[in-house]
Amino acid sequence: VVAFFQPKRLAGQHVVVTAGPTFEAIDPVRGITNLSSGKMGFAIARAAREAGAEVTLIAGPVALATPRGVQRVDVKSALDMHLASTEHAQSATVFISTAAVADWRPATAANHKLKKDGSGATPKLEFVENPDILADVAQTERAVRGDLYCVGFAAESHDLLAHATAKRLRKKVPLLVGNIGPATFGQDDNALLLIDAAGSTELPRNSKLHLARQLVAEIAKRLHATS
Ligand code: CTP
Ligand code: CA
Repeated sequence: VVAFFQPKRLAGQHVVVTAGPTFEAIDPVRGITNLSSGKMGFAIARAAREAGAEVTLIAGPVALATPRGVQRVDVKSALDMHLASTEHAQSATVFISTAAVADWRPATAANHKLKKDGSGATPKLEFVENPDILADVAQTERAVRGDLYCVGFAAESHDLLAHATAKRLRKKVPLLVGNIGPATFGQDDNALLLIDAAGSTELPRNSKLHLARQLVAEIAKRLHATS
């Protein structure tokens, strides 16, 4: 199905999507990251654009082409992503947080490449917690007022419904989307569990693009119900 035939359910909306992993520097040439491919977030950005929205895609380091008509902002670390997200969320009406944000970063990043000292000693890394981007955006005045609709994702290894329901309440977002296992990182398809105040709905296994279009339709439905 080409974009031309997608109903313009999000016309007039500005959608900000975060996607991919973050990269937390240890030194100028090393860091810590994760296996998120960014595919689900990029598919959602594409689907939102097809649905007529203005779309800003805040992407961690991924090897994916920018969907047509989408404004892309490349970031590396969780702190970069946090800054870009809070900035772009100021003018957004929907914020969709698909990024696999690193929960911790090395407490200090060395200015120079760490060298072996010949003794066999290994570096001792200390970590600090990264800010919770989604929770912070969801606590902004515009989000609390209902002018910015926030959507979170959760990849849980077990007890998806219980963990994702708790996460929705903890992050104070109206909609939380769970990836239904097995691990979806890098895969082209997925299955989703949508959790909102009314309960849960399953979107059965399909391509990430198909699911992204269904999710966009579900978000549009909820937007129009609250405005
Ligand atoms: N998230 C975020 N910033 C973080 C961590 C998570 O914005 N520092 C967002 C993710 O993009 C996702 C949601 O919060 O939309 C849930 O992420 P997840 O990793 O499942 O939850 P955490 O709160 O980090 O809890 P945990 O990893 O311990 O389960
Ligand atoms: Ca996490």
